[in-house]
Amino acid sequence: MILLPKRNLAITLFSFHIFLSLILKTQAKCNTGCHLAIASYYVRQGTNLSYISDLFSQQVPEILKYNPKVTNKDSINTGIRLNVPFSCDCLNGDFLGHTFTYITQFGDTYDSIAKFPYSNLTNKDWLQRVNSYQPTRIPDYVPINVTVNCSCGDRDVSKDYALFATYPLRPGEDLSSVAAESGVPAHLLELYNPESNFSAGNGLVFVPAKEAFHYNK
Ligand SMILES: *[C@@H]1O[C@H](CO)[C@@H](O)[C@H](O)[C@H]1NC(C)=O
Ligand SMILES: *[C@@H]1O[C@H](CO)[C@@H](O)[C@H](O)[C@H]1NC(C)=O
Ligand SMILES: *[C@@H]1O[C@H](CO)[C@@H](O)[C@H](O)[C@H]1NC(C)=O
Ligand SMILES: *[C@@H]1O[C@H](CO)[C@@H](O)[C@H](O)[C@H]1NC(C)=O
Ligand SMILES: *[C@@H]1O[C@H](CO)[C@@H](O)[C@H](O)[C@H]1NC(C)=O
Repeated sequence: MILLPKRNLAITLFSFHIFLSLILKTQAKCNTGCHLAIASYYVRQGTNLSYISDLFSQQVPEILKYNPKVTNKDSINTGIRLNVPFSCDCLNGDFLGHTFTYITQFGDTYDSIAKFPYSNLTNKDWLQRVNSYQPTRIPDYVPINVTVNCSCGDRDVSKDYALFATYPLRPGEDLSSVAAESGVPAHLLELYNPESNFSAGNGLVFVPAKEAFHYNK
């Protein structure tokens, strides 16, 4: 009986604590996303457009709009990067990304799903964070979340770019090769990715892409 008020106080304090942390949490790092971002998808051997279309829930003709160089949809070259359009959402008010649904295959791990089907557009730690399955207990043939980060730009850096590619760095690339490939000046790439090491051979960077209509040539 004497404990009751104390307990109530504790509960009140606890609720207040939750309330505060909710407020802090909703001091969002993002409010809205943007309707379009590009996944720079490295094409492995044995991959084809209908498979990629399934992975990203995106129609083949829609993907082709962003890949004017692909002329034969039935046979895409291995070792190229394909531009896959997706919507960049503000997830949990916390970060920009998009969650795709992937059906696990026999023997999949978070690591293998990130590295192979999704070509390093995400990584195992990130997949572990957005799925409830323990890494060693992922059932076969069930849907799981595959979250890919994205960017909608930064008005403090430049207002000229609104469309961004999520670009997994590969071994052998560096700042100048990414600049040459994207046609974006190196210093601008650095401004958009202040923490990134472009020579690391892995990790994501965000590369400004030309506006959507440029792809339609
Ligand atoms: C496309 O690739 C997937 C996965 O590698 C494969 O299962 C499927 O048979 C391929 N489809 C065609 C038409 O080659
Ligand atoms: C992803 O990165 C790993 C090395 O971290 C590499 O072995 C693998 O081939 C890469 N995936 C693709 C599709 O290039
Ligand atoms: C995606 O963004 C979140 C939040 O900024 C970060 O913690 C995570 O490491 C990123 N994932 C990848 C694969 O880079
Ligand atoms: C995928 O994410 C949704 C939304 O956060 C969550 O409800 C669901 O449980 C997640 N799926 C798995 C397999 O963890
Ligand atoms: C960037 O990564 C490369 C390759 O791992 C490494 O040699 C270099 O020291 C790194 N640079 C910085 C500034 O960390």
